[in-house]
Amino acid sequence: MGRKVTKAVFPVAGMGTRFLPATKSVPKEIMTLVDRPLIQYAIDEARAAGIKEFIFVTSRGKSALEDYFDHAPELESELRKKGKDELLEILKSTNMDSGAIAYIRQHKALGLGHAVWCARRLISPNEAFAVILPDDVIAAETPCLQQMVEAYEETGGSMVAAMEVPPEKASAYGVLDVAEDMGSMVSVKGMVEKPPVDEAPSNLAVIGRYILSNNVLRNLNKIKSGSGGEIQLTDAIAAEISEGRSVYGYRFRGQRFDCGSKAGFLQATVAFGMAREDLKDEFTSYLHDLLAVQRAAQ
Ligand code: UTP
Repeated sequence: MGRKVTKAVFPVAGMGTRFLPATKSVPKEIMTLVDRPLIQYAIDEARAAGIKEFIFVTSRGKSALEDYFDHAPELESELRKKGKDELLEILKSTNMDSGAIAYIRQHKALGLGHAVWCARRLISPNEAFAVILPDDVIAAETPCLQQMVEAYEETGGSMVAAMEVPPEKASAYGVLDVAEDMGSMVSVKGMVEKPPVDEAPSNLAVIGRYILSNNVLRNLNKIKSGSGGEIQLTDAIAAEISEGRSVYGYRFRGQRFDCGSKAGFLQATVAFGMAREDLKDEFTSYLHDLLAVQRAAQ
């Protein structure tokens, strides 16, 4: 059985209400960590994992995203004239091969599951595909999706990225019911979206990286609406298990930042700023001084 994953779906049709007023006119995915938009981190991670086709599920008001991946002839010729080769090189990472990128509209924000379902016609029958939520940014030596693709080549089935969370935080996530713990991987016997506190089946939460069998799309077809009135991706993956198909949780190596929340975005900004060769000395010393001043004032 071929277990190559070459397509990734990026659901970016959410309204991003936690970042209003910014997201009134700027898509959340275009907001920048240091100097790169969230979507660039997601694309770089997908490329590292061998993804060749990129499917964006978008909505009204997201045209800045489409422009981001286009060529910018005036800007490029200006930079060329001025001999700014380094900047031209940086711009190259934003370009896509012709035909490698597709945009699908989700006409109503009916949930993550519905957004993934909107991409169904671009995925061949029996083809597995990746899903990346760009607001989960993962700092890792080996990019998270690459780790998962390598593990998936061994297992097949469907796979979700899993992260340990404190019990009181579990109700903010989809949570795995673990059948067998194999270390970096667990086999899953159930999944619950946002369980009430005390009812979480484990402390393993699902975050925004998935490798899904094509059957998950068929399950999404059947699901009307789950938790919170939205069509949940978790429910469609849980249906895989009840139909006897394998689902795995993968404990990735890396640090995940929830850039869909203000606190997470700020933490990521600091962490990525401190990790950048060209900024780290100045930025770290600024943070030290700032903390010293704060401590002295306490
Ligand atoms: P979130 O739950 O973070 O929702 O979606 P949101 O709309 O982006 O942000 P808030 O909560 O209003 O601040 C998780 C991911 O699922 C996508 C989002 O774009 C994000 O990548 N999504 C969500 C859709 O594509 N469509 C939907 O109907 C819902």
